[in-house]
Amino acid sequence: MDELFDQLDFVENPLYETIINDLLEQQYSVVDAFFSSEEVERLRNSLLEKYEEDRFKKAAIGNKFEEQIERSIRGDFVLWMDEQSTNPAEQLFFSKINHLVHYLNKTCFLGILHKEFHYALYPKGTFYKRHLDTFQNDDRRKLSFVCYLNDTNWKNENGGELTIYQQKNGVEEVKSLYPLPGRVVIFESQVLEHEVKPVLASERLSITGWLKTR
Ligand code: OGA
Ligand code: MN
Repeated sequence: MDELFDQLDFVENPLYETIINDLLEQQYSVVDAFFSSEEVERLRNSLLEKYEEDRFKKAAIGNKFEEQIERSIRGDFVLWMDEQSTNPAEQLFFSKINHLVHYLNKTCFLGILHKEFHYALYPKGTFYKRHLDTFQNDDRRKLSFVCYLNDTNWKNENGGELTIYQQKNGVEEVKSLYPLPGRVVIFESQVLEHEVKPVLASERLSITGWLKTR
């Protein structure tokens, strides 16, 4: 009975449909203004507040539990987020994520059961070398989700582009995406190789996470 009601309730969401089509066609999707400028500002302030409280750690390669610090590979600082947090900006963040996950599970049978998200701060001069998100000994990662929390006067000259690499008919295609505030990039964790180019000025702020199966 619940299922029947669920189906009657179903309303097609054009934004999510675009994301799904992009993922099917090109393995990634870029959505500008997934978060409003007000939401970005609140999340950015919450990131900065925790950073100033010294709660971030040097990012590791490996997952939450098997960390290994390797500065020649990545130089960002991260703080894992807690969905149970009472911080209103984070609650709103997770409610938007859950809404999307619910839709994906319903329309694409993706079977997303778990998720993990962290704040990330890349100081000037840092980067994250080309990689696949599943080399972090976690093959349950299905979709990677990055949202940028830089401020509105972020300049392209600041660097820190997300560069993605794809094979098209045996030829490598390279695309660079600027970390613009409110922009979200979603991609297939197991297939899309990507890199964060060196940050040349300022600090690069983001939330990164993974939607996982099983
Ligand atoms: C990562 C990552 C991309 C970005 O944290 O695994 O690739 O644009 N982040 O921050
Ligand atoms: Mn990555």
